[in-house]
Amino acid sequence: MKTILVTGGAGFIGSHVIRNLVQKHPEYRVINLDNLTYAGNLENLEDIKDQSNYQFVKGDIVDASFLSELFDTHTIDGVIHLAAESHVDRSIESPMDFINTNIIGTVNLLNACRTAWKDQLEGKLFYHISTDEVYGSLGKEGLFTEETAYDPRSPYSASKASSDHLVRAYHHTYGLPVVLSNCSNNYGPNQFPEKLIPLAIHNIIHMKPIPIYGKGENIRDWLFVKDHADAIELIFHKGETGRTYNIGGINEWTNIDLIRLLCRIMDQKLERREGTSESLITYVKDRAGHDMRYAIDSSRISDELGWSPSLTFEVGLEKTVDWYLENQQWMERVTSGAYQSYYQKQYEER
Ligand code: NAD
Ligand code: DAU
Repeated sequence: MKTILVTGGAGFIGSHVIRNLVQKHPEYRVINLDNLTYAGNLENLEDIKDQSNYQFVKGDIVDASFLSELFDTHTIDGVIHLAAESHVDRSIESPMDFINTNIIGTVNLLNACRTAWKDQLEGKLFYHISTDEVYGSLGKEGLFTEETAYDPRSPYSASKASSDHLVRAYHHTYGLPVVLSNCSNNYGPNQFPEKLIPLAIHNIIHMKPIPIYGKGENIRDWLFVKDHADAIELIFHKGETGRTYNIGGINEWTNIDLIRLLCRIMDQKLERREGTSESLITYVKDRAGHDMRYAIDSSRISDELGWSPSLTFEVGLEKTVDWYLENQQWMERVTSGAYQSYYQKQYEER
């Protein structure tokens, strides 16, 4: 039985990755290592928490001695590393949290793998989950390929770029078996409502303003989270060691068009008069250093591994809205307490 360590498994994407592995691979023992920051929520895994091939361990990847004990206690065959500070706005306010978790935490994990796997690299794999933001910002034309030069422009993306470089450096220098993927914006169930789509859903439900940074013309390439989790499972099993795969939705939207579509869906679901949600749109001060456009060329993963997104945006967004409407208690719980002061600080002066 192989033991797979998934870091950040109580977060948004990590919880979907864990569910996939636990349900589809009874031959794996899946350990979820998560520090349960504000973004980590074990409620996301309530349905699989008692499965015999799943175990949760609370711990901080910044703590090297904790990691070394963990690797001594368990024979770990593979790591899927998602744990990170993930929100750009928070990185602008508090960059050091990002440097510590995203850079130091990643290098601690790489060191733990090097030590644990020093006599036997065969059958081992360190899979690093990264972002398209490392490539910087696009103009009107072009797509990010795996060859695009790195040009990170926020503390978040710079910390992720740094971790990507370290992962590749450990492969080239020490022969550590690694694989990487860089994905575009995810959306779907269980996303913390600091990110655009769940924040807007939350505000629409409560008839609060929907804050749009700048003119709302920035473009993102959106992918349903379960499609990302499937791509991760595929790359973990079939990806070539040392290789990077870009993952994207082939689904570019300006923020304002996306929010208008969301407003239409919400009006229908909430049986409100057409235009009710749109009236909540409020243009606010732009994000500092706001990247204009991200868009991914996913032809490598599509040609080599046969992956492509399974849902249209309209269907994925409707599924997402349904999930949030059916899980309003989840939303209420994560937005009570610390969220309130975050929200005030982030939006009240904009
Ligand atoms: P998230 O913020 O929802 O979850 C992050 C998880 O990591 C949380 O459960 C948190 O408790 C845990 N964590 C944070 N610091 C930790 C630490 N020091 N030790 C242990 N656990 C810690 O993030 P997400 O949106 O699910 O993103 C997961 C990964 O995917 C990140 O590496 C992110 O950079 C990458 N990514 C995200 C997106 C996206 O659109 N959300 C797109 C591409 C790549
Ligand atoms: O591209 C992948 C990245 O996507 C991931 O690496 C990050 O972890 C993830 O957070 C996401 O980053 P973005 O900054 O693109 O996502 P966010 O949801 O914060 O913002 C999406 C767009 O919406 C962006 O152009 C900023 C804008 N925005 C965001 C918020 C929170 C608003 O206009 N208003 C808002 O209130």
